[in-house]
Amino acid sequence: MIKIAVCGAGGKMGANILQLLKDDSEAVAACGIDPRVFDAVGITVFSSFKDITEKPDVIIDFSSPAVLEDELDYAVKNNVPAVIGSTGFTAEQLELINRAAKKVAVFRTANFSLGVNLLCELVKRAAETLGEKFDIEIIEKHHSQKIDAPSGTAIMLADSANSAFADKKPYVNGREGICGKRLNEIGMHAVRGGTIVGEHEVLFCGEDEIVTLSHSARSKKVFAAGAIKAAKWLAGKSAGLYDMKDLLGDF
Ligand SMILES: NC(=O)c1ccc[n+]([C@@H]2O[C@H](COP(=O)([O-])OP(=O)(O)OC[C@H]3O[C@@H](n4cnc5c(N)ncnc54)[C@H](O)[C@@H]3O)[C@@H](O)[C@H]2O)c1
Repeated sequence: MIKIAVCGAGGKMGANILQLLKDDSEAVAACGIDPRVFDAVGITVFSSFKDITEKPDVIIDFSSPAVLEDELDYAVKNNVPAVIGSTGFTAEQLELINRAAKKVAVFRTANFSLGVNLLCELVKRAAETLGEKFDIEIIEKHHSQKIDAPSGTAIMLADSANSAFADKKPYVNGREGICGKRLNEIGMHAVRGGTIVGEHEVLFCGEDEIVTLSHSARSKKVFAAGAIKAAKWLAGKSAGLYDMKDLLGDF
């Protein structure tokens, strides 16, 4: 049995992970880490990584960038691989992840769904084919409780499109006022409301035609299942930074 520490155990993703692990024959929730757990979640929940008394085989983290330093510290010191699903990291925090991955196995993705990862490939292909004459705009929609924008998935999609242009296009988040004509950017727009799980649209706007590629997540279960699959795959792996391409292989 693979023992999983669930960071963010009291959150929406934490609840989905714990629910799926109840019926898993290969992995089990060993403990949780969350400073704010209001309901009994059926496992011991520590308020920080500094308090953990047992050694899990792997961490799954859907919480907040605020825990990152403590988590990586714990992962490196105890040689426990970490699957990081949280989003909203700064460039400095991403660098911390890169550095930790030289010492312990770290898996990070902003989206654990097969569909979104396929969409990234399709977006890259579309950008290569349609080229500079098509303006790229990304619209993402999420629930009212989401604290970061644009979504990590929107950034993943923008990066996929941008890879067709040697990463040269700047990203512009929303527009307002007299912002001037559109330049050579990738535009990103965040809609927040209600209980929307996650919608992403990539528009390629050309002269007299628009190509739209999109993905719609109908529940958070799809991300939780992907993260558990990643955790089973990562447990026991040597140091390195892994993502969905490593797990799924090339499309
Ligand atoms: N990669 C993906 O596929 C994917 C999918 C869904 C959500 N997410 C991301 O996962 C994160 C969590 O999403 P959610 O919907 O479960 O949010 P949520 O607000 O429901 O839950 C977050 C939980 O993290 C806990 N938390 C906050 N600070 C913490 C800390 N320092 N240490 C430990 N726990 C802490 C909170 O108390 C809360 O219980 C977000 O960053 C979200 O964008 C990623």
